Amino acid sequence: MNGKKLDLALQHFNDHKSVYLDDLKDLIRIPSISFPGFDPAPVRHCAGAVASLLKTCGLKDVRVLETGIGHPSVFGQWNNEPGKPTLLLYAHHDVQPVGREELWITPPFDPTERNGRLYGRGSADDKGGVAMYAAALRSYLQTGNALPVNVKCLIEGEEEVGSANLGTLLQLHRELFSADAVVIADSENFDSGVPALTASLRGIVTVTVEVRSLSSSVHSGTWGGPLPDPVIALSRMIASLVDETGQPAILGLVDKVRMLSREERAHLDALPFQESLYRKQAKLLDTTQIIGGKGSVYEKMWYRPSIAVNAIEASSRKQAANIINDVAWARIGIRIVPDMDPNVTLDLLKKHLLKQAPWGVQVTIQPEAPSTWWKTDTTGSVFEAALKALEKGYGKRPVVAGAGGSIPFVQTITEALGNAPALLLGVGDPFTAAHSENESLLISDWEKGCRSMIHLLAELGELNG
Ligand code: BES
Ligand code: MN
Repeated sequence: MNGKKLDLALQHFNDHKSVYLDDLKDLIRIPSISFPGFDPAPVRHCAGAVASLLKTCGLKDVRVLETGIGHPSVFGQWNNEPGKPTLLLYAHHDVQPVGREELWITPPFDPTERNGRLYGRGSADDKGGVAMYAAALRSYLQTGNALPVNVKCLIEGEEEVGSANLGTLLQLHRELFSADAVVIADSENFDSGVPALTASLRGIVTVTVEVRSLSSSVHSGTWGGPLPDPVIALSRMIASLVDETGQPAILGLVDKVRMLSREERAHLDALPFQESLYRKQAKLLDTTQIIGGKGSVYEKMWYRPSIAVNAIEASSRKQAANIINDVAWARIGIRIVPDMDPNVTLDLLKKHLLKQAPWGVQVTIQPEAPSTWWKTDTTGSVFEAALKALEKGYGKRPVVAGAGGSIPFVQTITEALGNAPALLLGVGDPFTAAHSENESLLISDWEKGCRSMIHLLAELGELNG
């Protein structure tokens, strides 16, 4: 009986997949950038569009959720199967800024298919995830007017800026989010065509730092010599964050980094790795080294802390005059791993920067909302169900992987639900270029992801509620 419903849903998806891909294209057309300094109206518009999509799918109680500050999220549910488990499906509808517009081959908010990929900001991160849920839910609700499990959908509107109001949202609507397991469609596949079930995430601690030495910029010839250059001061501070191998050099930072167990290391060592492919995926130039000391790239990306300077500003290419700048600015992020504490990390970073600041320059450090790391054990029936579903959808054994990125929701919700199992998967692949120019989605992987989701709902429906 259930097998028949599953087959009908899979068949329905095959017959309608291009229509459902069009839903994704419609979402991509909305420039829902959640970053400060960008118009918040499109994020609101996008929340409305997601709400209509969920309604069209056949979800009930669809509503836009607000906390009074920040960007709106969307909720919808279907709970006609008392006795069956309830799944909370999470994704986000906000996106990162577009970066350097001139580097986009086709405009970021004009979804375009090329060579089997769909290009556009948010195509994979994470509107592809939203559209995948919608396609899977619709495939059941249009064919059988029922789902194999109870479903709650939460599509967040400010994941890319650290989900600062998520805690409030969960408190305000506690009853809405109770569930037996959580699915988070916001990570990436291990390789194109090779699904991943993600078992760990790094956290992130971000600050902006401003270094000032003068009350306004001055002529670099007239005044140069006795005056501290804030750009050089900031450069020295930044350079001191890592050693010659590129590893963090902040005092005490790595003290709490958890050692990998022998089994974990064996698992990492057994993962396929081809340096030439890795270099291509990571966009590394031929002459550039892979840094970070000993260990596999997987260990470095998933289980070691890393530091990035996301942006740096002092005058501009266009205005580069012969001056000593009055001020220099940078945004710095540290990815944190088990068992690093976000607040301790923030403290160590602040102390380090202040200590390294030369010549009495004025330093102002502003932290952003941190996100903590997450790591789960992958035994149990829910994970088994997910592995099966991914294998059926992709026709390939999934890799149990870690991820270097961060998703604040995961720790927050699993904690709130008393350690409910969380299934992290996603439609991106290593060529997705999330957060960069020319972000894209491998369409065949999106379709496989949708089929996996259809299987996952069926598999979880077999478990006891
Ligand atoms: N989808 C990503 C995170 C991700 C990427 C997880 C790849 C697993 C694999 C997410 O949208 C993201 O970019 N998050 C931010 C979070 C931050 C603002 C707290 C990140 O990681 O920079
Ligand atoms: Mn994302």
